[in-house]
Amino acid sequence: MNKINHFILCCLFLLSLGSCRSETKQVDMLLYNQDDLFINSFYRQIVAMAEDSVNLTVHDARNSQILQNETLELRLREGSDLMLINPVDRLGAYSVIKRLRSENIPVIYFNRQPLHKDLLLWEQSWYVGARAEQSGQMQADLVMDLFGGDPENLNEYDRNGDGKIQTVILKGEQGHQDAEIRTSEVVGSFRRNGFKLDILVTEVANWDRNEAYEKMGEILKNFGDDIELILSNNDAMALGAISRMRQSGVFTDSNGNGRIDRMDEGWIPVLGIDGIEQAVEQIQAGYLYGTVENDSASMARAIAALSQAVLEETPLSDLPFPVEDDKYIWIDYQPFIMEN
Ligand code: BGC
Ligand code: CA
Repeated sequence: MNKINHFILCCLFLLSLGSCRSETKQVDMLLYNQDDLFINSFYRQIVAMAEDSVNLTVHDARNSQILQNETLELRLREGSDLMLINPVDRLGAYSVIKRLRSENIPVIYFNRQPLHKDLLLWEQSWYVGARAEQSGQMQADLVMDLFGGDPENLNEYDRNGDGKIQTVILKGEQGHQDAEIRTSEVVGSFRRNGFKLDILVTEVANWDRNEAYEKMGEILKNFGDDIELILSNNDAMALGAISRMRQSGVFTDSNGNGRIDRMDEGWIPVLGIDGIEQAVEQIQAGYLYGTVENDSASMARAIAALSQAVLEETPLSDLPFPVEDDKYIWIDYQPFIMEN
C-alpha cells in the first residue's frame, strides 16, 4: 500500500473512532449569563447551527467577569481555535482582545458590543449584533400609532386628556449599549415627532424579570392611576411588570368579551423589545401591547457563517451577510404587534 493510501486509511480509522483531533476545530462560547431569558434562547440557536466539523463548548460566566476571565485563560491553555464571546463587561474587551491577539485566536463578539477602538486592536475580531437605535425608534413608532399618530390630538389612551403621555421607563443594565441607546432613542423619537412624554420615573431593573416585578410594586404604589404607558428596554422586564400589574388588578375584562384587550377600561400599553416566546404569548393574551424583535435567529446564522469562514480562512466577502468596516454584521430589528 502506498503512503498516501495508508494515510487516508489511518485517518478514516481515527475518524470512525471520533478522534481525528487535528481535523475537529475547537470553538468556545463564553456567555455572560445563561439564565438571561434572551441569551438563553439565543445561544441554543447558535448551538443548533454548529456543524459536525466543530466541537462547540459553552461556558456560563454567571454574570462574573472574573469567572469569564478564568475560563478564557483555561481555554487558551487547553487549546481553542475560535472564541465566541458574549462579555460580562463589554468595556473589558480591551484586555481580552489584546490577550487573544497575543495567542493568535480569532474572536466573534455578540450581543454586548465592545468599543470600536478595541475591535480595531486585532484584525481577527468581529461583532455580530443589532443597532440599538433602531429598536428604540421602532418602539416609539408602535406607541405613536397606538395613540392615534397625531401629537396634537392624542386619542383615548391619553387618559387624563392633558396632551402628554405619562410614562414609566424600565431600563436594562447601566452601561449596556442597548439600555443606554434604547432609552435615549425611544425618548428622542417622541420628541422629534412632536409627541410630549411626561416621564414619571425611570427604573433600572437590569434586564431581569424578577427585579422588574419588585420595582413595579413600588411604581404602582407611587403612580398607580397616572400611568399611561410602560416602555421596557426588554421583554423580560416587561413580563415582570405585567405580572405585578395583573396582581394589582390593572387588567380587567371590563367589557366582558372574555379576554383582555385594549378596549378594556384601564388597560395600559406595555412594550418590550426582543420578541422572546413568552412575550409573544403575552401579546396573544392581550397583556403586552407589542415588542420589537431582536432577531436572534438571524444573528445565530450570521455567527455560524462567520465562524465557518474564519475557521476555513475563506473570504468574508463571500458571506451571505455583509461585513461592515471589516468588523460588523448588523441584523435588523422588526416591530411586532398583533391585531386585537
Ligand atoms: C436584550 C436583553 C438582554 C441583554 C443581555 C439585550 O440585547 O434585549 O434582553 O438581557 O441583551 O446582554
Ligand atoms: Ca396624559
